[in-house]
Amino acid sequence: MSNSIRPLVAGNWKMNGLAAALGEIDALKSKLTASAGVNAEVVICPPATLLERMSTATAGSPIATGGQDCHTASSGAHTGDISAQMLVDAGAQFVIVGHSERRADHDEDNGTVRAKAEAAIEAGLIPIICVGETETDREAGNANAVVGEQLAGSVGDKLSPHGLVIAYEPVWAIGTGKTATPDDIADMHAHIRSLLVERLGAEGEGARILYGGSVKPGNAAEILATANVNGALVGGASLKADDFFAVIAAA
Ligand code: PGA
Repeated sequence: MSNSIRPLVAGNWKMNGLAAALGEIDALKSKLTASAGVNAEVVICPPATLLERMSTATAGSPIATGGQDCHTASSGAHTGDISAQMLVDAGAQFVIVGHSERRADHDEDNGTVRAKAEAAIEAGLIPIICVGETETDREAGNANAVVGEQLAGSVGDKLSPHGLVIAYEPVWAIGTGKTATPDDIADMHAHIRSLLVERLGAEGEGARILYGGSVKPGNAAEILATANVNGALVGGASLKADDFFAVIAAA
C-alpha cells in the first residue's frame, strides 16, 4: 500500500534565492515538460520574498509552491511573521512546519509545530510536518523514541482533506553530506508508519512519509526505492534545476 502512494518531492530553498534564482524554475519547468515519465508530485518552498513570483512563474506547470513556515494565528500583531492564509494568498499549496532549523533556531516545540500544522490545514494548505533525531539521540539508541514523541506532539487531531505529509530528517544528515543507511531509513519509516496508522487509521495508511537529509542525484534512487519512503525533502540539491530534476526523475 504505502509504496503505491504517489511520491512527493519537495524542495526547501531555506534562506537562499534572489530574483535571479527564478531562472532555475524556468529550467526545471522545461525539463519537466520535456520528460513524459515523471511520476512524482513536485513542490518548491522558496523564501517568502519569492513565493508570489514563483507561484506566478509555475502556474499551469507541474510545480506547486509552498512556504517554509507559518504562524499559528491567522492575523494579528506578530511582527515579521507570516500566516498560513498569507501563504495561500501568495499561491502556496503546501507549508513546511517544524523543520529542525526552526525547532533549533526559534525554540519551536512540538505544541507550536502542531498549532502551526493545524493553522495550515485550516487555511487549506498541506503541512509537511518535520521530525528527526539528533546524532546524540541516535548514538544513545533513542532515535525511535525521540521521533515517536515528536510525532505524537506535532501531529494534531485535525485531519487534512488533502492528506498528511511527514518528513523524517535526521538532524545530523541535514546539509552534512551524510545520509542514514537504507536499513536505518527503512526501520524509521516503518516505525513512523505504524505510529501514524495506530493514531489515525486510514489517514495514516495514506500519509506520505518523505526522507530528508543530503538527498542528491547520486543517492536519490536508492533512498526513494526504500519501503515506506514516499518522496523526499531536498535542501541544497533543490537549488539547481539539473540536480533537482535528477532527484524528481528518480522518484
Ligand atoms: P539538505 O537539507 O538536503 O541540504 O540536507 C534538507 C532539509 O533540511 O530539508
